Amino acid sequence: MSSASSTDSSQLNLQPNNDSANAVAKKLDADETAGQVIAPWRSPLARAIHRNRAQPFSRYFQLATVRPDGTPANRTVVFRGFWADSNQLMMIGDRRSEKIEQIAENPAAEACWYFAKTREQFRLCGQLTVVTADTAHTGLVDAHQRLWQQISDSARAQFCWPYPKAPRADDQDFSPPSPDEQMPPPQFCLLLLAVDSVDHLELRGEPQNRHLYTKTASSAQGNSQQWQVTAVNP
Ligand SMILES: Cc1cc2nc3c(=O)[nH]c(=O)nc-3n(C[C@H](O)[C@H](O)[C@H](O)COP(=O)(O)O)c2cc1C
Repeated sequence: MSSASSTDSSQLNLQPNNDSANAVAKKLDADETAGQVIAPWRSPLARAIHRNRAQPFSRYFQLATVRPDGTPANRTVVFRGFWADSNQLMMIGDRRSEKIEQIAENPAAEACWYFAKTREQFRLCGQLTVVTADTAHTGLVDAHQRLWQQISDSARAQFCWPYPKAPRADDQDFSPPSPDEQMPPPQFCLLLLAVDSVDHLELRGEPQNRHLYTKTASSAQGNSQQWQVTAVNP
């Protein structure tokens, strides 16, 4: 295996991101103390997920981040549910992939999720956090480990493939020994999208419907979310 395809965790320079994950962990502790309010966009999103459940691709959405040079980077990811009682969307990713470096520099992100059967789009804008085994939040580390245990053997194996985006490695490097099913390797991470605003467009209406959800001032304690919902022109 070439050095570019090594999965050595010493290549993973994620210190800034761990710092931000730990800052988020502190904020999450506060949110848990206050009790999270389910955001109002969760209900139409849950309905869309339910009504489109027969189409496996309805679990995929596009996640856009910002490259250090300011250009957009966009890719498809799989929705892995919400973290605990929060309004944060979970995804999984490889710490060696470019998105992780982008998030460390700038956590701003937007998910764009189209449901083909019901013909509706959700654009969820917010901030990403990368969770690893080193994150200082027991609940997050548990979720990280649980997701590793839940994914398929073939999905787990991909985290042991040669380094993403390095020159194509030998075929034999894509058949590494099976990773531990219980303990995630360092390249496995959980991504959390904390949503600040949602733009929901329903093509089915005549005329179409569009609703904007915006996170407004926090509660007096400063730690539970409040949302404003506005019907706007499509
Ligand atoms: C249907 C589909 C689902 C995917 N799901 C994920 C995913 O859940 N997590 C992920 O990191 N990449 C996923 N990928 C791969 C990404 O789209 C992307 O190629 C990879 O993460 C590298 O992106 P980056 O270099 O911008 O970090 C998926 C691709 C497809 C086509």
